[in-house]
Amino acid sequence: MHHFHYKGQDLYCEQVPISEVAQEVGTPFYLYSHATLKQHYTAFDSAFKDIRHLTCFSVKSNSNLAILRLFASQGSGMDIVSGGELYRALKAGVEPEKIVYSGVGKRSEDLEYALESGILMFNVESTQEIQRLNEVAGSLGKKARIAIRVNPDVDPGTHPYIATGMRENKFGIDISEALEHYMAAAGMKNLLVSGVSCHIGSQLTELSPFVDALRRVKELIRKLNGAGIRIDYLDLGGGLGITYRDEAPPHPKEYANAIKPELTGSQLTLILEPGRVIVGNAGILVTTVLYTKTTSQKTFIIVDAAMNDLMRPSLYNSYHEIQPVKIAGNAKVMADIVGPICESGDFFAKGRQIQASGQGDLLAIMSAGAYGFSMSSTYNSRPRVCEVMAIGDKFYTIRARETYEDLVRGENIPDFLRKIS
Ligand code: LLP
Repeated sequence: MHHFHYKGQDLYCEQVPISEVAQEVGTPFYLYSHATLKQHYTAFDSAFKDIRHLTCFSVKSNSNLAILRLFASQGSGMDIVSGGELYRALKAGVEPEKIVYSGVGKRSEDLEYALESGILMFNVESTQEIQRLNEVAGSLGKKARIAIRVNPDVDPGTHPYIATGMRENKFGIDISEALEHYMAAAGMKNLLVSGVSCHIGSQLTELSPFVDALRRVKELIRKLNGAGIRIDYLDLGGGLGITYRDEAPPHPKEYANAIKPELTGSQLTLILEPGRVIVGNAGILVTTVLYTKTTSQKTFIIVDAAMNDLMRPSLYNSYHEIQPVKIAGNAKVMADIVGPICESGDFFAKGRQIQASGQGDLLAIMSAGAYGFSMSSTYNSRPRVCEVMAIGDKFYTIRARETYEDLVRGENIPDFLRKIS
């Protein structure tokens, strides 16, 4: 369920006509529905309410401060992967003891920052990282709580770029070798070994890979307990998919119902790191048609948003619905919807049946709330777009559109280049 719908001919976000937002802030822009964000967070978190758990929203999927703040106000923790994400989470008011830190390449200064901030746990992914964390914690006179991220070798059945829990991926430590790493870590004096984590991939539309991974992790926890290592946290990562087109992913309730029976009688705290399932369908990218042209081969609709604003189609060939902001009853055409960037990979849709549009028409690129703005760049020196949140019949800019000055901030022409001879 989301709150983007037509009233008459016009597309609305909650009670706000999207054309009105466009008039006020210009295009392109991201638009999020507050009600959808809140409802998706609550649906997910409450599905686990009868077991000990902590929902840690995955900041990488959408890291806008206002959005993080909204989830923090609902009691959410955060899953972070960098010092920058930690900074954002803290700035948004997230309690540090609800923050878990994942990622294969944490730098010493980021480890320090996280230790000084008092985060809950580090999900560590290699022997060298374990040693480094032990050293950094020692130098600060602190103890670092860790989970080892294990690679359970489960095929999540998703796009290869976002599958992370198979043996050939860079993530985690092979589950069959985990015990020896746990034994070594347990002997390090600045580490507190208390968790096991895994994350097998993103945009999963089946439950069985999650259950398979969980069973493998449980088996490991049994072995660890046998070896005298006490585990308090089981972090299952994120990964639950959403509907972009015609996928039928399980509802968070079904996801929870598949997981909970596996944990009956256990004292573990379950950590979940959802991203996409909460924000994906809560946001859209609104763009204006600049030009249309028909070549001998195709019709192109050229819009003012581009791959730098939403790179998922270019990077993963992913599908996003594209809807007119005003239904005009025009005949449909088959077109490629493309951006202004100088690459053929700059497209939002290919061979799409869409209402014939003309210059100035607004289009909504749907399901863009996750990995949309957070993956955007300024390629082709295009300032990053603004982000807006609608609530009821009001809307607020939650990130200003970047300016040309923002584009060159920090750049410097050294003296030797200043004299033009
Ligand atoms: N936890 C960890 C350790 C992760 O690596 C990820 C995502 C998540 C949680 C959240 O996963 P989610 O619930 O959102 O599936 N840019 C890609 C997705 C990359 C996912 C990376 N890791 C896309 O646009 O599809």
